[in-house]
Amino acid sequence: MSSVLAAVAWPYANGPRHIGHVSGFGVPSDVFSRYMRMAGHEVLMVSGTDEHGTPILVQAEKEGVTPRELADRYNRMIVADLHALGLSYDLFTRTTTRNHYAVAQELFRAVHRNGYMIEQVAQGAISPSTGRTLPDRFIEGTCPICGYDSARGDQCDSCGNQLDPIDLIDPKSRINGETPEFVETRHFFLDLPALAEALGQWLRSREGWRPNVLKFSLNLLDDLRPRAMTRDIDWGIPVPLDGWADNPNKRLYVWFDAVIGYLSASVEWARRTGDPEAWRRWWNPSKDGDEPLAYYFMGKDNITFHSQIWPAELLAQNGVGARGGEPGSFGELNLPTEVVSSEYLTMEGKKFSSSRSVVIYVRDFLSRYDADALRYFIAAAGPETQDTDFTWAEFVRRNNDELVAGWGNLVNRSIAMAAKNFGEIPAAGDLTETDQAVLAGARAAFTTVGDLIARHRMKAAIGEAMRAVAEVNKYVSESAPWKFKDGGPAEKARMGTILHVTLQAVSDLNTILSPFLPHSAQKVHELLGGTGIHTPMPEIREVEDLDGGPSYPVLMGDYSVGVRWESTPVEAGQPLSAPKPVFRKLDPSVVEEELALLAG
Ligand code: MF3
Ligand code: ZN
Repeated sequence: MSSVLAAVAWPYANGPRHIGHVSGFGVPSDVFSRYMRMAGHEVLMVSGTDEHGTPILVQAEKEGVTPRELADRYNRMIVADLHALGLSYDLFTRTTTRNHYAVAQELFRAVHRNGYMIEQVAQGAISPSTGRTLPDRFIEGTCPICGYDSARGDQCDSCGNQLDPIDLIDPKSRINGETPEFVETRHFFLDLPALAEALGQWLRSREGWRPNVLKFSLNLLDDLRPRAMTRDIDWGIPVPLDGWADNPNKRLYVWFDAVIGYLSASVEWARRTGDPEAWRRWWNPSKDGDEPLAYYFMGKDNITFHSQIWPAELLAQNGVGARGGEPGSFGELNLPTEVVSSEYLTMEGKKFSSSRSVVIYVRDFLSRYDADALRYFIAAAGPETQDTDFTWAEFVRRNNDELVAGWGNLVNRSIAMAAKNFGEIPAAGDLTETDQAVLAGARAAFTTVGDLIARHRMKAAIGEAMRAVAEVNKYVSESAPWKFKDGGPAEKARMGTILHVTLQAVSDLNTILSPFLPHSAQKVHELLGGTGIHTPMPEIREVEDLDGGPSYPVLMGDYSVGVRWESTPVEAGQPLSAPKPVFRKLDPSVVEEELALLAG
């Protein structure tokens, strides 16, 4: 039994999220968290919308609204999408809360006090025509490292390296295309070289990481330079130091504050649940044995910030580095156990792009298809360890041939046959070897599937679960319970035994599939005559800011209820009625319709 932090990447509140986003951070973190809770661990799953920085400013300018209005609009939309997907956040909040400001500033002060935040003169970009500063993402140019021609001033999305605007070859303003001028400006830099040894020690002691992620992270150690953690920008968290706090044009860098969200959201969760210190169970080293575990979920463009910047911020606040120091007021904070990064999802062979309308937004997807159909696709065919293409043809095939014809068919025919012939779950008589083997097979899947999920091998895990489903389907076909239906009492009893065994296996497999397919798991539970909550769901709550700011929607939930990760005996005599299908078969014409929408 451990305390397990599931730290999920914070989506920018600058637009609706598409299915590529939720395949990176959303579904994988939810499958993991649901399983870990069912297995008895104490899970805290936190995230929120990332609402500062140039990503928000650029879009606000485009939509002709203030950054605040923009953030409010998309925070609400993203909360609704993640809710519809059934992602079981203990708290999904936002970075514009007063609590987050306070935690981020406190962390900055601790890092500064320990000597890891150094003030330096830097080259800042300004627009020659207006004299206004041009923050990082307002500038684009060619990446000096890989040659990609639309690298941004803060990062190259092609090679993943962090950049400064002045590094770009042929930089251009995104506002009007002019070439920026560079002038001297003062900023605070996180002293990564002073943390290099501690970072290396931590990273080299990691086990079980995906090889790509570890290799990328280790490579980052070869080029550690101080990184600016403040910006010339007027939207963000004020720099909490004398002479800076009142300057409306200096703010903390959005990435500096966003990663602190994991901590601030944990603190907010604790404050909201009435035990304000409870967050420490996931963040401070334990006094008695079991160390808390922390898994961070994201797409690969976020790796640098989670395997370098965030651990460096934590080490610096802990006072672990070449300059020494003392832990700040949060005490010693735990570094990530693992950075669980997925690769990219593409769409019909192309990179997702809202501007070129190569995109399907979560809300549009869910207005036409079920959440579990999308969750199934992402779990079974998502970009877990390599870039992966989403095609409508493959979506329809997986839905129809696997979800509907495999699992849906097993659920439907077993419950229908029992309801029709017995009106209840029939009792089991003596079990044959085959009966016993099928029960044992379903039970064994708890171990195999659970171990795979715990190691973030979601694809293999759902593959194993579906293989177990196929075994039970084969058992039903081969033992053919329908052929006994008009026989005498002995025949009828044998039919009852087969159906009892099948329904027990269905119940077990439903539990095993519930982290992947939470909505349908609840329905199957009810078809089997179950009542109460089998698979808990998040809810949207409109809450007051804890420190007097404006109110906002959050996702929270009570996940202490629900089924455990173990076989629950089905009970003979439980009344059953004819089932409604749980999964919808899709007409193949869907493929053409969706492709036409994409092209149009
Ligand atoms: N908003 C960033 C993105 O969408 C992710 C931030 S993750 C965080 O790429 F932890 F830094 F918040
Ligand atoms: Zn590059």
